[in-house]
Amino acid sequence: METKLYPSRIDLSGEVRRSVVTLLNQTLAATIDLKTQVKQAHWNVKGINFYSLHQLFDEIAGELEDYIDTIAERITALGGLALGTAEIVAHTSLLSAYPLDIVSGTEHLVALADRFATYAQHIREAIAKTDELGDADTSDLYTEISRAIDKRLWFLEAHLHPSDA
Ligand SMILES: [Fe+2]
Repeated sequence: METKLYPSRIDLSGEVRRSVVTLLNQTLAATIDLKTQVKQAHWNVKGINFYSLHQLFDEIAGELEDYIDTIAERITALGGLALGTAEIVAHTSLLSAYPLDIVSGTEHLVALADRFATYAQHIREAIAKTDELGDADTSDLYTEISRAIDKRLWFLEAHLHPSDA
C-alpha cells in the first residue's frame, strides 16, 4: 500500500515523513496484533497460576493499548494516515498467528515470549532506522517502547526459568 501523506508545516521533509510513517504503520499493525494475542492469553489461560497470569496478561495488554494510541497519533502528527483496522492488521502484521489449541500457563507464556522477542527486535531496529532518518522524536518513542517490551519479555521469561520446571 502506498503511504499517504497530508501536507504539514512540520519541519521534516516529505521524504523523511513518508519513510517514518511507513515504518510506524508496520509497528502499529504489529502492536495491535500483539495486544489482541495477549488478550487471547488473558481470556483462555488455565491452570494453577490462572489468576496471576490472567492479571499479568491484562496489565501487559493495557500497556500495549497505550502504545497503539501513541504510535497512531505520531503517524497523524507526521501527516500520515494511521492504518489500524483489524482487516489491515490481519494482512500486514509481522507476527505469526497465535495458536488456538494451547491451554496451560507455560504454553501461553512461551507463545507470548516468542512473539515479544520478534516484536522487540522490530522495535530495536526501528530506533536506529528513525535515528538515521533524522526523526529523533520517533526514535525516542521507539526507545521508550523498547525499554518497556524488554521488561515485559523478562516478566514472561522469568516464569519459564528452569528452576520452576
Ligand atoms: Fe478481562
